Amino acid sequence: MPRKPRVLLTEPVFEEVISLLQNHTDLVIGKRGEFNNAQSLASAVKNIDGLLCMLSNPVTADVINEAKNLNVIANYAVGYNNIDISATHSQGIKVANTPGVLTETTAEGTFALLLAVSRRLNEAENALRAGRFDGWHPTGFLGTELSGKSLGIVGMGRIGTAFARLARAFGMQILYHNRNRINTNTERELQARFVVNLDELVSQSDVLSLHCPLTSETHHLINEKMLRIMKPGSILLNASRGPVVDEAALAAVLHQGGIRGAGLDVYENEPQIHPDLLTAPGAVLLPHITSATYETRLKMGMLAAGAVLHVLCNLDMPCYFVED
Ligand code: GLV
Ligand code: GLV
Repeated sequence: MPRKPRVLLTEPVFEEVISLLQNHTDLVIGKRGEFNNAQSLASAVKNIDGLLCMLSNPVTADVINEAKNLNVIANYAVGYNNIDISATHSQGIKVANTPGVLTETTAEGTFALLLAVSRRLNEAENALRAGRFDGWHPTGFLGTELSGKSLGIVGMGRIGTAFARLARAFGMQILYHNRNRINTNTERELQARFVVNLDELVSQSDVLSLHCPLTSETHHLINEKMLRIMKPGSILLNASRGPVVDEAALAAVLHQGGIRGAGLDVYENEPQIHPDLLTAPGAVLLPHITSATYETRLKMGMLAAGAVLHVLCNLDMPCYFVED
């Protein structure tokens, strides 16, 4: 009997995902955080056939060079900027991600972030818990209304589009910037306006929300110059990847009151947070949870495991591979 393929799952996940993999493979499960550096990952991948990894695991060219038997890398995420895709090409390794199953959850999570910033929910609740609720008064914890405001979306993929749909229900006007124009029916449904020039989008948006992948083109896309042309009183949301925003510049602009606030779910050096962001007025800071619903995280795990089993065991499982 041929040996079972060897698979490394870099940290414990749902029982359902683990047993599916254990049924067909010789599975090694890492400890949480054990493979958050390239060195430890490089020494663990030498004899494995499949890797199921987290977005916190740096799958660098050095890691991939060590993995002579590797046929498939499945990322437990839709974004795959943690994987050196060109290095996988030279070794013919297939790379899978988890699009589709987190679209609605992530859009909902981003909306929660928007409302938390626009209505100052965390700040107000913290005041109450600290015993500072002294009764209703007309000017306490004033936020800003969303209805009638403009929402500028950078990256109009599945998540950006789902987020725009929620914003329409709140009466917001949609502008978007994307590599390509989206299809006419969706544009019409959302009454969305395509803005070719990013500066123009940034300077016209009451809420600016980032939904693009992290690439060399989008690294620090929202830099100091962009932050300075945002409308006074506007809000920045980032539920994409931290390095799309220059975090130090954002912290400075918030401290200076250049914009109303920022809702962040992702950071440049996770899990570290820029110290000036922690003290910045108007900042709502979440620990990378916009895709964190039970339903979605389980489906993401099953899709990633499905890709590993599809490649290594020829099983007919739902899965997605990153396009070349
Ligand atoms: C989460 O950040 C993901 O990319 O799935
Ligand atoms: C991710 O799934 C996207 O296309 O937005």
